[in-house]
Amino acid sequence: MTHEPVCLADALASFTERWSPRIVAAVNDYDVRIAKVEGEHVWHVHEHTDEFFLVLDGELHIGLREPAGERTVVLPRGSVFTVPRGTEHKPYAPAPAAILMFEPTGTLTVGDRHDEVPDHVDATTGHALG
Ligand code: NI
Repeated sequence: MTHEPVCLADALASFTERWSPRIVAAVNDYDVRIAKVEGEHVWHVHEHTDEFFLVLDGELHIGLREPAGERTVVLPRGSVFTVPRGTEHKPYAPAPAAILMFEPTGTLTVGDRHDEVPDHVDATTGHALG
């Protein structure tokens, strides 16, 4: 992990893969990750941690399966949202978008339980910046 400033625009320009987060910073035992996203992720759940999203560019939708039923939250650029631990969720981006996530180091992108992971989704704990 670098101890130099990281320009998010440069970091985003350094890779092209969708749904494949890069780690740009660490805070205590949390990672700050950025990802380019487009299309559907996969239904999954993090049993032991909340997951924070900040939309840097474009628009992110997150499907949520809550006790009261299923709903979708829409996050335009500049929005933040936290998926509570134990809540099944599926991010979706109708067009190319960029997001920042904040979650404990080692958190798997597809959670502890998930539907079958499609080829376009990277099951990872995050990659170092190139
Ligand atoms: Ni998640």
